[in-house]
Amino acid sequence: MSTHTEIAQIFHGTFIHPVSLDNLEIIENGLMGVDAHGRIAFVERGVIGDLKIREVLSKWKVVVNGEEKVRFLTMGQFLLPGFIDTHTHAAQYPNAGTGRDLPLLEWLKKYTFPLESSFSLLSYAQKIYPIVVDQLLLSGTTTAVYFATIHLESSKYLAQVAYERGQRAFVGKVSMDCNAPNCLIEVVEESIKETESFVQYVLGLDPNENNDYDGEYERRGTRLVTPVLTPRFAVSCTSKMLEALGKLAKKYDDIPIQSHLSENQEEVAFVKELFPHIENYTKVYDDHELLNDRSIMAHGIYLSESERALIKERNAGISHCPNSNFTILSGVCNVRQLLDDGIKVGLGTDISGGSAKSILNAVRNAGVASRVISMSSSNNDNEMRQQPLSLPELLYLATMGGARLLNLENVIGNFQVGKEFDALLVDTVTPVDPAPFKVFEGIDDSDVLRMFEKFMFLGDERNLRAVYVKGRMVSGVEFIRNNKSSTSNSDDDAIIMKKINEYKNSGRCPVCNDSKN
Ligand code: GUN
Ligand code: FE
Repeated sequence: MSTHTEIAQIFHGTFIHPVSLDNLEIIENGLMGVDAHGRIAFVERGVIGDLKIREVLSKWKVVVNGEEKVRFLTMGQFLLPGFIDTHTHAAQYPNAGTGRDLPLLEWLKKYTFPLESSFSLLSYAQKIYPIVVDQLLLSGTTTAVYFATIHLESSKYLAQVAYERGQRAFVGKVSMDCNAPNCLIEVVEESIKETESFVQYVLGLDPNENNDYDGEYERRGTRLVTPVLTPRFAVSCTSKMLEALGKLAKKYDDIPIQSHLSENQEEVAFVKELFPHIENYTKVYDDHELLNDRSIMAHGIYLSESERALIKERNAGISHCPNSNFTILSGVCNVRQLLDDGIKVGLGTDISGGSAKSILNAVRNAGVASRVISMSSSNNDNEMRQQPLSLPELLYLATMGGARLLNLENVIGNFQVGKEFDALLVDTVTPVDPAPFKVFEGIDDSDVLRMFEKFMFLGDERNLRAVYVKGRMVSGVEFIRNNKSSTSNSDDDAIIMKKINEYKNSGRCPVCNDSKN
């Protein structure tokens, strides 16, 4: 990379990042420079004392208006790579934390489809989506992979909001044409037209995205918002729909594909019924040219050995969503096995199958899921037990694992020089409102590894002082303090909520008047 690029920001202090699946690096007394394009220009280790700092800065010719812009992190503060949520449903945010009594297929019918049909009203999307993007950013999700709904205008709006808020986002207009209420069933030709129109719209959101770069990155690496082809899952797409989307995937051969795969046993059986001539669930996508290195498949709990082999062969990947898997009683995914098979794995919140918006919550539940598998992996014989996911592995899944799943491993995921600065400034010491929050007290500030471990298992968004995407501060306690965000118009809110509630109480869709059945 070019050394003459202007250095825009410099951080001094502790940086923690994954260097491989089972190895994290703690950089103490680090000095990191971020250039004007938001890329990491240099990372120097063990830079102690003013003199040494000056020496390094002069090596990098850092003088901006005669003043060095160094942000000195204090004891108890550290930088982490931003979290990557590889699977979530922005439209389902209003249902998060509710509807926990039913498994997937019934849950979709009773709670999820009715809510999603509300997004035929752009005004409802305008109320919900800014909240979702703001809340995910506040939780440290610098990159989010979203399902919207089938509705073109609302889906475009979600992409626009992510773009405006500065979140790195992958956004899909959902495609579905069967096994759903009428108002959520598309006609294939129309659907494909709308999907193309959506793709064009999102690609046009930052048409100059590549201008700042000197050709070192792949185009998609530097894009802030990316469209995603989104067949909901094999249950709600006919072969005709899947085939048409497979063709689009060929035409737009640098945009990703997302769907659900093997989440629930009834679902797997239903897919077998719907596609009796296809060997297994994974092959349904493969046969329709939707399984390749750009495919982000949520869940993957009940995959056979041959399905895992096929996923590996195609270099597709799995978004592990443990909170959702527990909440809607889907099962426990054996992530260790996927990793041992060499399959790409990232973490997802899967709102509202999952009840929590934060990747920290996904980390904790992934830890629990791996412990459940470990405990049941052999008859109390410790030697034979599958190892639960370790702290470095959990950090990897939340950052680099997600980056690899999105084919962004050369762009984000850790603090390697040349990558873009998507980062969290974690603060375990400074009090925030509302206090008190005393989980870090009583341990030695200088024990960085323990501090980090505590943050991963007990911390929350109050500890996120600043959230950066491409070098820009876009959220965090400090950001919110300085940019009091506006709230939405309450008159409009009342009208929209009245409509939604009328619908919920009547059990009928406000648009097609179809019953929820
Ligand atoms: N499978 C198909 N649609 C969905 C959804 O909205 N959530 C989850 N968890 N699984 C799905
Ligand atoms: Fe999902």
